[in-house]
Formats: sequence, C-alpha cells, structure tokens
Amino acid sequence: MKLKKILISLSLATLTGGALAQSASEPLVLRSVMVQMQADTQAAADAIARQDWASVASHADRLAHHAEPPALEKVRILSWLLTDAMTFRNYDLQVKAAAAELATAAQHKDTTAASRDLARMQQSCDGCHNSFRAQFLAHFYAQ
Ligand code: HEC
Repeated sequence: MKLKKILISLSLATLTGGALAQSASEPLVLRSVMVQMQADTQAAADAIARQDWASVASHADRLAHHAEPPALEKVRILSWLLTDAMTFRNYDLQVKAAAAELATAAQHKDTTAASRDLARMQQSCDGCHNSFRAQFLAHFYAQ
C-alpha cells in the first residue's frame, strides 16, 4: 500500500518533470534580470536629473541589451505564453527600442528627449507587468 503510493507520486513527479523540479520557492532567472533592469531604470532617472549623460548612456545601453534567462527557462516561459508570446516579446522590444533612444538622447545631452524616452520605456515595463505579471506569478510560483 505504502509502496504503491510512493510509486504513484514518483511517476507523477516524472510526468510533471521540470515544473516540479523548479519548485515554487526557487525564483526564475527572469526575476534577477528584472531586478537589474529596475536598478538601471532608477539609476538612469537619477542620472537624467543630475544631467550626468555618461551615466544615462551606460544604464540605457544596459537596458537596451539586458540579460536574458537561459534557454531552458525561456522554453518554459514560451510554452506557458503560447499565443501570447508575440505580445510578451513586443513589450520587451519596445523597452529595448526606447532604451536605445534614451542612449542617443544622452549622447545629444537632450534632457527633454531623455525624459520622454525614459517615460516611454517605463510605459512598456508597466504594459507587460499589467498584462502578464499576475498570471505569471500564479503559474510559476503558485501565488
Ligand atoms: C516582456 C514582459 C516584461 C517587460 C517588458 C518587463 N517586465 Fe518586469 N517583470 C515581468 C515578469 C513576468 C515579472 C515576474 C518575474 C518573476 O517574479 O519571476 C516581472 C517582475 C519585475 C519586477 C519584480 C522583481 C521581484 O523582485 O519580484 C521588477 C522590479 C520589474 N519586473 C522591473 C521591470 C522594469 C524596470 C522593466 C522595464 C525597464 C520591466 N520590468 C519590463 C515581465 C516584464
């Protein structure tokens, strides 16, 4: 009886494979990517206020070329997103495009353009969070 139970839970674990291997308590790499993006966004905003254009440019550049989760995690996320994958990806492309424009504005020492590009980038951060974050947390962290 006991052995049967163990066998059943073992085969269940095998079936659900990766999903169980990465348990609710283990954060996805995407989260650490986001923490870094948040730090770069805050640093860029502070640097615009100081008109420290070299610093704006370097943080904007990091945002435009931000790190990505490893391939296996990407597959997990994409297989959850399914038909929404394009929308999700478009938000990321919008963030990267706005960050690249922020870097250009920094090169031109253009405060107006820099503030506009930063705001536009943050709208794309918010857009993705509003569309996906709650469901993402529910799915990957059972929250
Ligand atoms: C393509 C979608 C997408 C875009 C674009 C995006 N995020 Fe996120 N973000 C997420 C998801 C999904 C999570 C939840 C990840 C998790 O908790 O594992 C998240 C979580 C976060 C968190 C919370 C991290 C934590 O410690 O729980 C912060 C902060 C964050 N994002 C900042 C940003 C900033 C800043 C930008 C823009 C520069 C941005 N994000 C753009 C999807 C996105």
